[in-house]
Amino acid sequence: MSKIAVLTSGGDSPGMNAAVMSVARSAALLDMPLIGIKRGFNGLIGKYPKPEDNYVELSLDLLLDIADLPGTYLRTARCPEFAEEEYQKKGADFLRSLDVQGLVVIGGDGSFHGAQALCRQGIACIGIPGTIDNDLGYTEMSLGFDTAVNVCVEAIRAIRATSRSHDRPHVVEVMGRNCGDIALTAAQSTGCEIVVVPEIKNWEIGDVARRLKNLIERGNTRATVVVAEGAWRTMADFDYVSYLKERGIKGVYEGQRINAVNFAKVLQEMASETDTSVRATVVGYTQRGHAPTARDGAFAFEAGAMAVNLLKHGISNQVIGVRNGRTFHMPIDTALNAKPHFNRRMFNMVNAL
Ligand code: ADP
Ligand code: F6P
Repeated sequence: MSKIAVLTSGGDSPGMNAAVMSVARSAALLDMPLIGIKRGFNGLIGKYPKPEDNYVELSLDLLLDIADLPGTYLRTARCPEFAEEEYQKKGADFLRSLDVQGLVVIGGDGSFHGAQALCRQGIACIGIPGTIDNDLGYTEMSLGFDTAVNVCVEAIRAIRATSRSHDRPHVVEVMGRNCGDIALTAAQSTGCEIVVVPEIKNWEIGDVARRLKNLIERGNTRATVVVAEGAWRTMADFDYVSYLKERGIKGVYEGQRINAVNFAKVLQEMASETDTSVRATVVGYTQRGHAPTARDGAFAFEAGAMAVNLLKHGISNQVIGVRNGRTFHMPIDTALNAKPHFNRRMFNMVNAL
């Protein structure tokens, strides 16, 4: 293999640039020219009229500074068309037209499906897990998770300080799509009292409120309820619009989906005997936009180098991950079928009080 390409896909995650930088360093060491595909799989299917919006030749000089930057230099985007074989073939043909035989795909499980599809079209592919969600069962860490957790930890610590000053409990919503790992790890790291995650189905808001009330009655007036965004879809149904309207709470309208603010309002009403005010904060996209922590940066370095070496030796259809603290690779198919690694024991410990 003499020429390879790299792309970032799905939601951006801290460490993507560091991984691209590492791929570039290893490619340079092995004298392999490197192409950067822009905006996920979109660049492969020639989505944009200007060629420079679809791909770029990556030299070490061009990349020297990017490892320090947050975001992804190559840009990222979703590309729903790529689920169709017609576009997968087009992408593979495009790579062949550039004389590229191997591709490093940095992204989550959706992106790995795209990599698998390209393998079927004759392009050698290696996946590097890049998602803050940590929702890939085969690996202990994915690029960006550690950074996202640290952003949440900083936010929660600040929130708990003001919560304590005002004797006010707080709901904090964090990202993670259908995975509760960011919420659980951040809650565990900051001593939060309640964590709500999508892995626990049909949890009733009344039960969360009872726990909160119990904490308040025991003197904990600044309890923090960390909610993983995916839990809004998996908690037990509750007609909170009617519930809040009946109590004359403003800012609630028909058809509105449950969110952190309204969840806090319901908790406040349910714990009202104690005359407690409950506030809410959504940590949001700050979780994705930070420079990588040392842990994410170091994994990016190792994963990028491993990906290039695998391609150099003609090894394809693999993803890189971490198991027992060691970087390893395994077939994409096996990785995508791995069971999720939700830590129920830790969930019970955080919610134990
Ligand atoms: P992530 O990679 O973080 O899981 P997404 O699920 O949004 O993010 O997927 C990113 C991209 O991967 C999609 O926009 C699409 O281009 C590609 N992709 C997702 N699913 C498939 C699939 N089944 N086949 C081919 N490509 C896919
Ligand atoms: O997958 C990463 C992630 O940040 C999720 O945690 C979140 O649900 C989603 O992406 C948000 O996606 P978008 O950038 O399309 O709003």
